[in-house]
Amino acid sequence: MPKKTIADLGDLTGKTVLVRVDFNVPLDKISGEIKNDRRIRGAIPTFRALLKAGASVIAMSHLGRPSGDPAKDKHLTMDKVAERLADLLDVPVTKAANTVVGPELTAAAKALPPGGVLMLENVRFDPREQKNDPAFAAELAGLADAYVNDAFGTCHNDKDASMVAVPAAMKAAGKPRAVGLLVAKELEIIDGLMGAPKKPVLAVMGGAKVSDKIAFINALLQKVDHLLIGGKMAYTFLKARGVDVGSTQVAPEELAAAQPLLQFVGSKITLPVDSLAAKSDDLNTTQVFEGNIAAGFEGVDIGPKTLALFADKIKTAGTVIWNGPVGWFEKSAFSKGTKGVAEAMANSGAVTVVGGGETAEAVEQFGFDTKMTHVSTGGGAFLAYVEGKKFQSLAQIDDR
Ligand code: 3PG
Repeated sequence: MPKKTIADLGDLTGKTVLVRVDFNVPLDKISGEIKNDRRIRGAIPTFRALLKAGASVIAMSHLGRPSGDPAKDKHLTMDKVAERLADLLDVPVTKAANTVVGPELTAAAKALPPGGVLMLENVRFDPREQKNDPAFAAELAGLADAYVNDAFGTCHNDKDASMVAVPAAMKAAGKPRAVGLLVAKELEIIDGLMGAPKKPVLAVMGGAKVSDKIAFINALLQKVDHLLIGGKMAYTFLKARGVDVGSTQVAPEELAAAQPLLQFVGSKITLPVDSLAAKSDDLNTTQVFEGNIAAGFEGVDIGPKTLALFADKIKTAGTVIWNGPVGWFEKSAFSKGTKGVAEAMANSGAVTVVGGGETAEAVEQFGFDTKMTHVSTGGGAFLAYVEGKKFQSLAQIDDR
């Protein structure tokens, strides 16, 4: 059933809209600066559309995973995010006082003029947020006339009040709920990808843990014609097949997770045929190994033969879905594989969809983000949606 979008909210002149965004952006550990503002940029079209329609906007988001100790969580305040939002929108953004809800905030919301933007404090600073607390939700719902979910990256969180209990409270108060432009776009693209993709469909998987992604890999295997595996998880599969992976760390539970998938290796799943490995005690010493990796070396990237093999398969695909870097791309000496996969996808002419925080970061770092059909703002949400999970947050949104 299609969901209401902001165009279905009716006349918004003089109305206040509460927009749940996912501004959970990566922060630099030392300076506290925003390292990547892709998620903020992704929500800008929704803000612009609402402001153009004459509404005022209250933005709410979580940032990180606060510990509950205000002294330790200071760096997770929304101040920098509000500043960046103001820069990108080119509109002043008022940052709410330190409490998430309360009389001061209610007064600030009431005082918002049409075209005004108010950014709430990190919703996770209130312990009721992750408990779907109805009283907390009712207070937030009371701030506005309509609710918009534009937080694709958080849509899989069923216990977050701002995602589920708040829209439920809005409904109880007879107020409309819609998805924002970012969520609408993410759903349309991923639905198309999983429904009627252009064939042949190829997936590229990487990252560290097979165990974290087992449901995702199983879902992909139902949909794709072929799955290429690189990254740290490839060594788990290689070791499970009896290849000596040298000093590459592979946990026993990871081997167990990979076991049921081994039957597809050689048919539906392709593993690396060579690896770039670095000496564990001297990362500047590297060597390419075909097959077994020598003791004292650990795998850090796919090798040149594997990259050529992967690039060939990408070239002939109709659709390519990519999740997880195929090497330690943050180190430039080990980034050739990940960069090469991004480049092959960008030049392929296929429908190309990239999901997951690290993968999106890599694609941006190498300058290929604008050449992809879609770079999702979702990490866990992207995986869960592709797996076919139903999200309570989206069930709350009014049908058209
Ligand atoms: C994400 O980055 O995946 C979302 O913002 C959700 O964050 P969480 O994993 O802390 O719930």
